[in-house]
Amino acid sequence: DPDSEWECTVEAPVNIALVKYWGKKDEKLILPYNDSISLTLDETVLGTRTTVSYSATYEEDCLVLNGEEQKISSRLENVIEEIRRAFRKHAVRNKMNAQNLMIMTRFRFRIVTENKMPTAAGLASSASGMACITFALCTALGIAESVDMSRLARLGSGSACRSIYGGLVQWEAGKEEDGSDSVAKQIYPAHAWPELRVLVLVVNGEKKKIGSTKGMQMSIETSDFMISRPKQCKDRIQEVCWAFQAKHFPALGEVIMKDSNTLHAICRDTLPPVNYLNETSEVLIEFVHDLNSIIGEVSVAYTFDAGPNCFLVFQEKHEHLLKWILSQTFLDSNGLLNTDKPKFDNDENLY
Ligand code: PMV
Repeated sequence: DPDSEWECTVEAPVNIALVKYWGKKDEKLILPYNDSISLTLDETVLGTRTTVSYSATYEEDCLVLNGEEQKISSRLENVIEEIRRAFRKHAVRNKMNAQNLMIMTRFRFRIVTENKMPTAAGLASSASGMACITFALCTALGIAESVDMSRLARLGSGSACRSIYGGLVQWEAGKEEDGSDSVAKQIYPAHAWPELRVLVLVVNGEKKKIGSTKGMQMSIETSDFMISRPKQCKDRIQEVCWAFQAKHFPALGEVIMKDSNTLHAICRDTLPPVNYLNETSEVLIEFVHDLNSIIGEVSVAYTFDAGPNCFLVFQEKHEHLLKWILSQTFLDSNGLLNTDKPKFDNDENLY
């Protein structure tokens, strides 16, 4: 019935890169300069929830992000267009009758999406956001099982392709010019290392000044460190996979911290330099190294994306100790900011 409306709601998680993607070979197709690997978090805490409804009676596609209607970006337009194309292929393959196919091609989408964390603050909201919209659109059209959603989500935001899968996920840059092999794959499911934990410290929930797209472009153009980056990433990804297989936290933690430091060294080597970290981030880096040297081995690792917020990776056995030390060190008795110390607004900023 062309006047009907359909609706579906899905959720998608954030992923945290352990070996980071930085730089594009192709801006439109979002083909990365290097391979990357990430951990997908539990979507019940951090992530995105999206409801898609569609009908032939809607005049145009529309997007409501965190309660406000937004203009659909050219990237999201690419995702929607590619999903429509995938749907037409699927319909023809499954011999959908011509009249229904005609009606379906007239459908327009209403996409209502909510992030559970600050948007565009280096908290991977674009990853879960684009993964979630892709998942919702594909589910609504009944093609979620028959397409590679990671390829589609990649067109919206590179890192989104990794949020399609749980656990340890690798995104291969790929060799094909059309991006057909630039997709994410699960290397290990989350239950392969169930004791792993990620704690997110929200240092600053504001929108960052230089978005990752702009930062990447500048680094590609000006940082010599980028030349050795693809090979370095391949080697580090192998180390991450090995550490995962052996469940060897010190080895994993070391690569995670080194790669985060490399990303921010590249940003500082960019002209003009880009600095995503702030004083609080620097204090946290020192804190983690001090803590590890007291414990006697790498038991906690930090990683920072294109923003000052800190992701701590550790094992469950250290969770209580770590949270206790963090709150003792950095929060005053009211759970409020201690100005000499890192800036967390309060306990609610620990996820
Ligand atoms: O997908 P984007 O454009 O938000 O870029 C993400 C880049 C980093 O978060 C810094 C690294 C990564 O691999 O996620």
